[in-house]
Amino acid sequence: MTATEQQLETAEPTNIVIFGATGDLTRRKLMPALLRMLCCGLVHADSRIIGVVHDSNEAEWLQLLKDGFDEFSPQLNVDEASWLKFSSHLKMVSGDLGDEATYQRVADSLETLGGKKNAMFYCAIPPEWYGKVAQGLHRVGMVNEDNGYRRLVIEKPFGSNLETASRLDKELQSVINEKQIYRIDHYLGKESVQNLLVYRFANSIMEPLWNRNYIDHIQISASETIGIEYRAKYYENSGALRDMIQSHLMQIMTLVAMEPPVEFTADAVRDEKMKVLRAVRLFEPEQVENQTVSAQYASGTVGDETAPAYVSEENVSPDSATETFAAVKFYIDNWRWQGVPFILWTGKRMKARVSEVMIRFRKPPFNLFDSHASLPAANALVFRLQPDGGVVIRMNAKKPGLTTDNEEMVMRAPYANDIEHVADAYEILMHDVLIGDSTLFSRGDEVEECWSILEPVLKAWKDRFSIERYRAGTWDIAAMDELTEDCVGGWHKPTIYE
Ligand code: BG6
Repeated sequence: MTATEQQLETAEPTNIVIFGATGDLTRRKLMPALLRMLCCGLVHADSRIIGVVHDSNEAEWLQLLKDGFDEFSPQLNVDEASWLKFSSHLKMVSGDLGDEATYQRVADSLETLGGKKNAMFYCAIPPEWYGKVAQGLHRVGMVNEDNGYRRLVIEKPFGSNLETASRLDKELQSVINEKQIYRIDHYLGKESVQNLLVYRFANSIMEPLWNRNYIDHIQISASETIGIEYRAKYYENSGALRDMIQSHLMQIMTLVAMEPPVEFTADAVRDEKMKVLRAVRLFEPEQVENQTVSAQYASGTVGDETAPAYVSEENVSPDSATETFAAVKFYIDNWRWQGVPFILWTGKRMKARVSEVMIRFRKPPFNLFDSHASLPAANALVFRLQPDGGVVIRMNAKKPGLTTDNEEMVMRAPYANDIEHVADAYEILMHDVLIGDSTLFSRGDEVEECWSILEPVLKAWKDRFSIERYRAGTWDIAAMDELTEDCVGGWHKPTIYE
């Protein structure tokens, strides 16, 4: 079966168990995704959704979910009839995650559906509970796959450094098989991120150019306009490096840099990604300063709104030195990429919300049109990931007129007008869990390798007392110009298309 056919496959009937069923993730993302998946048959109609809840009764829980649709997904227009249909799949199990009896109640609530007791356990809970939930399920025989599959879904952060990440892996793998663990990185579920593999491996014009002979450097970025919203407690201990670079952006880097896998299967793809990570040059402590940038937003104006400084956000310490902007310049020491900088950067409260991969080619070897023209700009190929997914090629063309002067011509090919609603990342990823395809999920060794690469940076940034500031709503980070000084074209700030 091809991967495409697999993606359209309806999964077997399943007990979808959600730990943390009153939480934000459940209401904002999981329930809307499940509702759409049930409507279009991606979740089998005989499936059950079991919410594990400790602080409400069933009526309150159902009301909370119903209100959640109105609040977070008004575009779904969940009317009374569709709510009744959806809620007929819902069932609540009450219990605290710390109470062993809860897991027995969960076990008792699983139904035999279509002859099997398949179960997907989704941990929409703080990461410190992942190990305990896996152990609780193990104790009551719920990770045993004799009578149907048992899959555990967890979300980043997977640890906060190498030590805690490997401790978590050991804790999980002592009771559950790695193949049963699905580590969600929601960026890998984005249409446009998956499309990177198709652009690379379904087109023959890319491969000859895709190496150090033609590429000067690559910038992979995710700039956001939002601040830290209600997540100060998490963000204060995380910062932009852990929050975005260790996970989403390093995952994208592996997709951009990897060799073609021998087949499009989970382990073949992840083995190639892993080879990239193993080739990333490790920093010496004294190199951290020259190869990274960190900064924090000061107050400013984002769009039409005034934004407070990070340190004035609720629950943020007034002398916090947590970075809300981070950049790292990596080198990948292998035949394809030797000497090509990969600059990964991300920031909150920036001028625009754009994620992209920018491939900057080398300059033309010399300027043939020297006597009349300005020096041609180096070409760029930009994969726009969001919000307006597509490809942009920047090439030089002759300016109309009597001279050979040239100007940059921007060719834009949108991939879909409203990329984020083509298919929501959570729908794609939950469906993959249900059909047992882990290609788009991070494997334990990848996660640990990313932490290990970042270890020197985390150590260097740990004890700092002060940090550079940038005005919210701007790209005013001078250190980025220094970081990209030796890169053709310098720091590439995303173009804002009207
Ligand atoms: C999350 C981070 O993983 O990704 C958030 O924790 C960030 O801080 C979010 O805002 C960005 O996701 P997206 O899909 O909006 O680009």
